[in-house]
Amino acid sequence: MNDKSSNAMWGGRFAAGPDAIMEAINASIGFDKRLAAQDIQGSRAHAAMLAAQGILTDKDAEAIREGLLTVLSEIEAGTFEFSTALEDIHMNVEARLKELIGEPAGRLHTARSRNDQVALDFRMWVRDQCDAAMEGLRALMQALLAQAEAGADWVMPGFTHLQTAQPVTWGHHMMAYVEMFGRDLSRFRDARVRMNESPLGAAALAGTSFPIDRHMTAETLKFDRPSANSLDAVADRDFALEFLAASSICAMHLSRFAEELVIWSSAQFRFVALSDRFSTGSSIMPQKKNPDAAELIRAKIGRILGTMVALFTVMKGLPLTYSKDMQEDKEQVFDAADNLMLALAAMEGMVRDMTANRANLEAAASSGFSTATDLADWLVRELDLPFREAHHVTGALVALAETKGCDLPDLSLEEMQGVHEAITDGVYDVLGVHNSVASRVSYGGTAPDEVRKQVARWKELLG
Ligand code: ARG
Repeated sequence: MNDKSSNAMWGGRFAAGPDAIMEAINASIGFDKRLAAQDIQGSRAHAAMLAAQGILTDKDAEAIREGLLTVLSEIEAGTFEFSTALEDIHMNVEARLKELIGEPAGRLHTARSRNDQVALDFRMWVRDQCDAAMEGLRALMQALLAQAEAGADWVMPGFTHLQTAQPVTWGHHMMAYVEMFGRDLSRFRDARVRMNESPLGAAALAGTSFPIDRHMTAETLKFDRPSANSLDAVADRDFALEFLAASSICAMHLSRFAEELVIWSSAQFRFVALSDRFSTGSSIMPQKKNPDAAELIRAKIGRILGTMVALFTVMKGLPLTYSKDMQEDKEQVFDAADNLMLALAAMEGMVRDMTANRANLEAAASSGFSTATDLADWLVRELDLPFREAHHVTGALVALAETKGCDLPDLSLEEMQGVHEAITDGVYDVLGVHNSVASRVSYGGTAPDEVRKQVARWKELLG
């Protein structure tokens, strides 16, 4: 077992040990040590099942159980010595178990292979990350709901092409992101349901001749059921790809919101003030307060999407079942998960801390002829003009205001009637931004009462 000339786990067939470069390219312990808790949990469930099925004696199973708990506490305490020669977390744990309990350790791997072992460990790890992502999203959505509730009737410009389009409410804009992050949350929830099948017991690829109980291990490890095809169980990593796809879409949403915060916090916009806690200064320009957290969140999609492309590319041409290529799955997912959780937490903090500048939002909403559509709608409703003609009349009024250097409500009734003689002073009611947003009462529209309804609905959904 301690013979260094060949591998301790399969030395029987090998006369010589690996080249140093072989060891370096082959080993995954540098990163898969993050699967230690899952590995030990899986091994404990496996050993208990082997004993229940009479494949292991109770005495051996008990020794294995105790030994694995010791290994776990050593890893948690940071005293465990990971060895590159032992390749990966599975063999590191087993070798240490052997040191601790001797012969019974060698019986743990009965009716199991590292192929189903790694598929199990990794699946459990990704499953936990789905839960973490959902939790991060829920916290972020709560922060957005608080912003939306406070500013349900604050008016701001709504944009298309980043040009002022129509007035909307601050609450409505915040709630747009609640919808997006709500769908992200449901993507992680869906992926979690699909991945919740236990691969343990698929063994190397074909199943095993031992009378194992895969339903028992599946239940112990909180899976809905064992996977129904042993080849599929060890060969696929679609659960990891789904996690990366959901993460990429979520990171894309985070990036768009981050971009808006960068724009909104600029001196040219001044729609929001970000807190000092989520900003940095400049080493040379004393006036600067930079939205670094927002910028970094904006960038995270780059690496997260990169991990998804990387894993797709690794998996795309692999014949069934396991190939060592698949060892390249873990670092991608670890990196994506770490960065997604960080981005979610940073965004939540930033949203909680930020202060909207209500006066600036309203001033911006009132400029740029943002109520031109309201004017056109009024012409249709009150004067019975066809919409195309109303559009034309409104365009002429905007042009007039533009030459005069004023906004639409600043035009006199005489000036308006110069463009269309039937216009009455009732028109001024729709030219104010507050009236404009209050009138958008269609389901899902920007009217403050509609926004409040959506806030209430989401509060209930999030509990
Ligand atoms: N370290 C390996 C991985 O991450 C574990 C599975 C090894 N299986 C094998 N047949 N060599 O994929």
